Amino acid sequence: MRTPLIAGNWKMNGSMSLIEDFGRKFSDATLSEAVKVVVIPPFPYLEAARQAFRDTPLALGAQTLNPADSGAHTGEVSGRMLTELNATYVLVGHSERRELYGESDEQVFDRLLAALSVGLVPILCVGESLEERDAGRTMDVVLRQVGYAMARLDPEQRQKVVIAYEPVWAIGTGRTATPEQAQEVMAGIRAYQAEFNTTLAEQLTLLYGGSMNVKNAAELLAQPDIDGGLVGGASLKTDDFFAICQSAG
Ligand code: PGA
Repeated sequence: MRTPLIAGNWKMNGSMSLIEDFGRKFSDATLSEAVKVVVIPPFPYLEAARQAFRDTPLALGAQTLNPADSGAHTGEVSGRMLTELNATYVLVGHSERRELYGESDEQVFDRLLAALSVGLVPILCVGESLEERDAGRTMDVVLRQVGYAMARLDPEQRQKVVIAYEPVWAIGTGRTATPEQAQEVMAGIRAYQAEFNTTLAEQLTLLYGGSMNVKNAAELLAQPDIDGGLVGGASLKTDDFFAICQSAG
């Protein structure tokens, strides 16, 4: 049995008051223990979140990390630093990092390894562009991104990775993939993983991301290969995010 996971990716949004609001909401209202929830705010809010989330079931995550442990990398943050702030998850390969900051599959892989080496759970993000989908290349693109990383990990490392399928055309556009479209790709990712090991494939946590909201979450989460969500815009509204978490529990 896979435990559902809902991850709120705040991107470069949020504020100290939103952190406090989340702390209040998630300590006052009871959330099913059958769902894991992680909030992924910008770096400067991690320490405040660590304190505000103390009496809540919320875990903490970061949006990226540098592959190095320390050194002359102005502006960067290492995995070790994130663990010192009690972060337990980190996004790697988000399409915005790939597109806006030119992260290649190889750089994504380096970050994945760095996360694993300090005990952070990497959420590896993959997904096709609209052009790639229209050209019928969705599965090729997604499995290339998954394969580039997963094929080089040993089984013990592989079982620690969470994969988020986020069609680029659905991110921040309000245009969600249909449950069937998402399920098809995600079943393909699980089948790919089963080529290595069927038990690991069964245990793999797969998230859907791309305009998931309070209205469409339940239907997406009901799909057999969708174990949770990576939620952007809707994770900035405390009540909406809480409701999405409830629909996963
Ligand atoms: P969105 O973002 O929910 O705003 O589409 C999802 C993501 O980029 O992780």
